[in-house]
Amino acid sequence: MIKTIEWTEKGVVLIDQLELPARELYRTCTSYEEVADAIRRMVIRGAPAIGVAAAMGIALGVKNARAKDLPELEREFNHICEVLGKTRPTAVNLFWAIERMRETFRRAAGGGVEAVRTALVEEAQRIYAEDLAQCEAIARHGGALLPAQGRVLTHCNAGALCAAGGYGTALGVIRGAVELKKQVQVLATETRPYLQGARLTAWELHHDHIPVTLITDSMVGHMMKTGQVNCVVVGADRIAANGDTANKIGTYTIAVLAREHNLPFYVAAPFSSIDLSLPSGEGIPIEERSPEEVTHIGATRIAPEGVPARHPAFDVTPARLIAAIVTEKGVARPPFEQSLKELAAAAVSFFTV
Ligand code: MRU
Repeated sequence: MIKTIEWTEKGVVLIDQLELPARELYRTCTSYEEVADAIRRMVIRGAPAIGVAAAMGIALGVKNARAKDLPELEREFNHICEVLGKTRPTAVNLFWAIERMRETFRRAAGGGVEAVRTALVEEAQRIYAEDLAQCEAIARHGGALLPAQGRVLTHCNAGALCAAGGYGTALGVIRGAVELKKQVQVLATETRPYLQGARLTAWELHHDHIPVTLITDSMVGHMMKTGQVNCVVVGADRIAANGDTANKIGTYTIAVLAREHNLPFYVAAPFSSIDLSLPSGEGIPIEERSPEEVTHIGATRIAPEGVPARHPAFDVTPARLIAAIVTEKGVARPPFEQSLKELAAAAVSFFTV
């Protein structure tokens, strides 16, 4: 099983995703500042993984805090949450995890400083364990949706590397289908400009011996038109109450193409990626990253000096283009306002910590 992140006595251990696929290098963050930096620089990335990392970063910060009384600890805790909350704006899992840690602080506060420290470390580990179990459940629900054989197109990386490890979300659906002995092959887009598909999805699937073929983003229309795609499965960074879904830039284009070719377009994500406070995708903040990630590949400049570039890192796919949203609680179908609300209210039966 691929391990993305782990809580250890020495600190938070992360596989460095900037080094993949060339090297499998694990880094140990020994302070919350190092965890925040790792999220900001995308050493760890992908919505669920960012949530788990934020929770562990907070636990680490509070574990290391010198505060001797509760008000002092609370001040440090608030500062840590603020620093982590400013790392990346789009994936709602970050804010969801911070809110869970805040709630844990409130609940444990009556017991004093040591009780709060212990509760926060335990909560971070619980969030990690839940994420693994949620992705397994997504794999079970989603695996059943895929055809008995065929080609599944995925974009960006929504696998073990975007979660706590293990199954992942969209790749969890594919792993679930493989476990059901379905003959699926994966078409992975390279995902310009950050190349999560080429670097990470291709590495993960190859590592797990799941057949994967890499294409450039611009090949998707041709592949669909020539009958080489049977369905699409992607992850999500934030899903609004009506089902509008923010995911890696380029997802919207693929969804429009899937509709044109009558192909089902599935989204797979845990409930921690669903933001029921937003009625539609219009309110989702879109991270604007450095134009250098467009003008350069690695350290090599590919565009002329002086030409401006843009890098919105995510786009929003309207709910009307989405056939189903696969969650750990089951599969939501349109109209999503209703189905997501019903699933949100359903008890979690797959996992109790
Ligand atoms: O910028 P990233 O790499 O953190 O983007 C997140 C993603 O990998 C994708 O948008 C993904 O499909 C959803 S997160 C499981």
